[in-house]
Amino acid sequence: MKKKGIAVYPGSFDPVTNGHIDVIKRAIRLFDRVIVAVIENPTKKTLFSVDERMEMLRAVTRGLSGVVVSHFDRLLVDYMKKKKASIIIRGLRAVSDFEYEFQMALTNRKLAPDIETVFLMPAEAYTYLSSSIVKEVVRLNGSVKGFVPRQIEARLIRKLLTK
Ligand code: PNS
Repeated sequence: MKKKGIAVYPGSFDPVTNGHIDVIKRAIRLFDRVIVAVIENPTKKTLFSVDERMEMLRAVTRGLSGVVVSHFDRLLVDYMKKKKASIIIRGLRAVSDFEYEFQMALTNRKLAPDIETVFLMPAEAYTYLSSSIVKEVVRLNGSVKGFVPRQIEARLIRKLLTK
């Protein structure tokens, strides 16, 4: 398959999960470059700082050629224009994601008609997975093996369970 252009995969990634990694791997099969763009949003409370979230993403995408990790703090479409990217990647897990994703995709289309959103479905095993669920399980002393890479689980334990 011929690859096409630069895609941006935006999100909170608080923290990155195996579901996100699955989407990144699918995206890089389709596009020359995939910029994983971490939102830096002071109004949304995150467990990890933007630097920590980027560092974790870099660690788990090391070795995936064509993937770069960056961050943004403005309108997504403005960031994309600066990066000369024309495709937004979003993962679509279940019907429950649809309304929010539909609203975002159409808002972005209204703001920038030349930018297209492409939805990728993660592997079935990850359809129920989210960063929020992962944080809750760790907070309550459960194992998140298989949900996130080992190094991310260790970071979560350090952040949530050690004083
Ligand atoms: O992982 P998330 O939290 O679902 O990601 C949401 C994100 C970062 C993709 C979205 O909030 C976003 O693009 N924010 C940037 C501001 C923006 O462009 N808003 C208008 C389009 S909704």
